[in-house]
Amino acid sequence: MTDSFAQDVHKGLSAEHKFLPSKYFYDDNGSRLFKQIMDMPEYYLTNSEFEIISLQSKQIFKALEFSQPFNIVELGAGDGLKTFKFLEFLVQQDIKFNYVPVDISSEAMEMLTANLEKRLPGIVIKPKVGDYFKILSINKTSQYPSLLLFLGSNIGNYKQDKAKELLKLFNANMKKGDKLLVGFDLKKNPLTVHKAYFDSQGITKRFNLNLLLRINRELDADFQIDNFDFYCHYNPLSGDVRSYIVSLRAQQVHIKKIDKVFNFDYNELISTELSKKYSLEEIGALAKNADFKLKTNFLDCKHYFTDSLWEK
Ligand code: AVJ
Repeated sequence: MTDSFAQDVHKGLSAEHKFLPSKYFYDDNGSRLFKQIMDMPEYYLTNSEFEIISLQSKQIFKALEFSQPFNIVELGAGDGLKTFKFLEFLVQQDIKFNYVPVDISSEAMEMLTANLEKRLPGIVIKPKVGDYFKILSINKTSQYPSLLLFLGSNIGNYKQDKAKELLKLFNANMKKGDKLLVGFDLKKNPLTVHKAYFDSQGITKRFNLNLLLRINRELDADFQIDNFDFYCHYNPLSGDVRSYIVSLRAQQVHIKKIDKVFNFDYNELISTELSKKYSLEEIGALAKNADFKLKTNFLDCKHYFTDSLWEK
């Protein structure tokens, strides 16, 4: 893990336009900060998706048209809070299913399993720790139909062609008739989007700058955090939120584990994250390009977010 982290940091900070991959946000500290983001009123995504799952569990279940039992495979389950209301509905209706949460954090999977077994007695949970794709290949040979969950607008971190590639990979590991439920953040009033990422308390700023602290900790570097700031920008035409770390002065940073000194110009940027927003038309086109049939878009009442149900 640390090795590929070192390689990716080396590559990103050596590029003409510096970048650091957003997947490295989520160490223990970063995961805590992300939870704080999800709790902010400005970060509407959490509430919107929670509303969809809470109010439309029955409709989502019906749209699956599955025989029982079936599998629910959740990619990047994390604390599993997004899915709880759906699982609760199924357990209450005595519907037979296996819940397979997948995450790279073993701690998260242990906590989720303990929590669900306590709150939903009788639930069948088979947590898996590790890489999505090794685990997904097991799904192909299951005798039961499967619902794959990729929620929380995680797809927004991928550029268009990468998103298509990832969804095609999901497709390749699904059986005919299997379903995929993907969470997309929708294009909306640009100020609403802007406020969700440029929050007044500066939590998103800390979330981004934690990446530099992580490099200090894990790669023995000497980033001075006060010499860096955060900037982000929403382009309502493309739907892209672009996040950056800004160097507030000309400075040098030594990363000992890489054995290199990196130069930063005054106001030089490090690109950190893409958080893409979609229109319903773009979602339809993406489903088609990844060889799925779009069955239903489940939207919240404000039309901020959709959990889009696709069939292989
Ligand atoms: C977890 C990738 C969906 O892009 O909205 C939150 C991460 N970044 N605030 C997103 C994030 C800044 C989040 N995702």
